[in-house]
Amino acid sequence: MKGLILCGGAGTRLRPITHTSAKQLVPVANKPILFYGIEDMVAAGITDLGIIVGDTANEIMDAVGDGSRWGATVTYIPQAAPEGLAHCVLIARDFLGDDDFVMYLGDNLLEQGLSDFVDRFEHARAAGGDHAPSAQILLAPVDDPRQFGVAEVDDVGHVVRLVEKPEDPPSDLALVGVYLFDRHIHMAVRAIEPSGRGELEITDAIQWLLDHGHTVLHDVLSGWWLDTGKKDPLLESNRLLLNRLEPANHGSVDEGSTIEGNVVIEKDAQVIGSRIRGPAIVGERTRVIDSYVGPFTSIGNDCEIRASEIDHSVVLEHTNIVGVPGLADSLVGRYVELTRSGQLPRALRLMLGDHSSIDLE
Ligand code: DAU
Repeated sequence: MKGLILCGGAGTRLRPITHTSAKQLVPVANKPILFYGIEDMVAAGITDLGIIVGDTANEIMDAVGDGSRWGATVTYIPQAAPEGLAHCVLIARDFLGDDDFVMYLGDNLLEQGLSDFVDRFEHARAAGGDHAPSAQILLAPVDDPRQFGVAEVDDVGHVVRLVEKPEDPPSDLALVGVYLFDRHIHMAVRAIEPSGRGELEITDAIQWLLDHGHTVLHDVLSGWWLDTGKKDPLLESNRLLLNRLEPANHGSVDEGSTIEGNVVIEKDAQVIGSRIRGPAIVGERTRVIDSYVGPFTSIGNDCEIRASEIDHSVVLEHTNIVGVPGLADSLVGRYVELTRSGQLPRALRLMLGDHSSIDLE
């Protein structure tokens, strides 16, 4: 089985903060979103990966490389314009050959891995017969289905209809950004026409399979799922992902410090005279001195947090926070200096980048 990861499409709204325009590379719990998808693929035994890249190809290629770090091989497939998810399958034809494959949207994050989903498809296909599935989709109930592909499932649990971003959704079951296909999808993506928004929709291609008598299996997702292209990608994803960290200390913690709960202290980080309450992560070479770091906080690499209290926040690399009590629910970019100098007259002295948002106490 092969893997196809989609990283074309438009960039992120977070560009001024993350310094990356590839939304799939936004770091969550100190790791780019895309890496979670790659890891899930590899854990499910899928190591032959194709990655669709668009405008942000160079950033994605720099970050992922040849895939050898995960024991995978990566083939990059350039897409000149974001012409739709089914268009990605169309242009990946040579890479995919006639193999079964998992298609994974590079800006999605899933709590559950892919192994059970893949096993189920492989068993159903091995059982063979007339009803061997040609595709398998993953569904999840959502509050506003109009933003997603939506499935209608009948009384006996068969998917009967799929519609992309409907005005009047037939159910609240959204298509999650993970799909399994066999070679029949290549016929489907060639047969469909662009949608009203001018894209070749994978939803329409799966509907084509249904209309032509193919079996499409589905699973309803048990854990959480985030389409980070839609929701506030950082704080919420960070909160969810920190929950699954295994505590580890690869740095140093002095005797005057206390560490509570799930905390990861990365290589060469130092914690001095501080209290850290997990789930939290402290990046490589970062120093936390005389400070409190509260739950659901990720501090990136090469930061200094001194005489400060910080909670439920994401701090990216090379940032210094000094003398700041009560920083909460915040997203702090790279190379930021946040200090309390005590200089008179008392004033807030700011240099804020584009799209900044500040909520004063
Ligand atoms: O997240 C789930 C939803 O993803 C599904 O419910 C929808 O049925 C499906 O169409 C898709 O909708 P989105 O509007 O969220 O797709 P988006 O344009 O954000 O693209 C998803 C990923 O695929 C993203 O990483 C960019 C990449 N992409 C997208 C397009 C349109 C490509 O690589 N090429 C493309 O042409």
